[in-house]
Amino acid sequence: MGTPHNEAASGAFAKTVLMPGDPLRAKFIAETFLTDARLVNNVRGVQGYTGTYQGTPVSVMASGMGMPSIGIYSHELFHFYDVDNIIRVGSAGAISPKLKLRDVVMAQGACTDSNYAHQYGLSGTFAPIADFELLETAVAVARRMGVEPPVGNVFSSDVFYNKAGNTLDWGKMGVLAIEMETAALYCNAAEAGKRALTICTISDSLVTGEELPPADRQSTFTQMMEIALGVAVEMAKK
Ligand code: HPA
Repeated sequence: MGTPHNEAASGAFAKTVLMPGDPLRAKFIAETFLTDARLVNNVRGVQGYTGTYQGTPVSVMASGMGMPSIGIYSHELFHFYDVDNIIRVGSAGAISPKLKLRDVVMAQGACTDSNYAHQYGLSGTFAPIADFELLETAVAVARRMGVEPPVGNVFSSDVFYNKAGNTLDWGKMGVLAIEMETAALYCNAAEAGKRALTICTISDSLVTGEELPPADRQSTFTQMMEIALGVAVEMAKK
């Protein structure tokens, strides 16, 4: 089997797939955290690996940047590879002044400026939300590690370089952070009847203008990855 964007064999992905945006981060996660990781996809350099973490099979594959990209990869994983859980492990920019660089945020819901949900032909606005069981498990795993994660809305935007300059307006509605993938991921999970959760590390702040150096974006997100991997282990027990 295979898809236009994925050359992996049937059954090559574990039930839970972690999705960073960056293919090099997928490789880093596989090499750093997984045992016996093997490359299962490399179409367009979108590296997918399957290995084990504490004895549980786990996969990691890049989503690319933006909703069209994660829309394709998550659709194929849910529909053609029998994947049950996708956990996006990404970065986000702080919109809330309460967030600090390196905070690990869990996206309970995703607002968006994208028209992605238009495809469903609904006569209103669909509210993309995290799977409650994944979210509840992730909060529990984080607390076990001594971390109290901020949980709430993110803003999934189609634009990184926003000319209107009004992104911080979302803060008036309590939105925590901006990223570019979650709304589409949550729509796809809902449509497929599967589970998704986004966990993001704050890499920059739109409030203060601070940012982490690019090297940190690839390698210092250990806490977020350990939470996501912990969730994969817990879900395998259910
Ligand atoms: N904007 C959009 N996506 C992001 C940002 C941002 O500032 N930071 C990390 N992902």
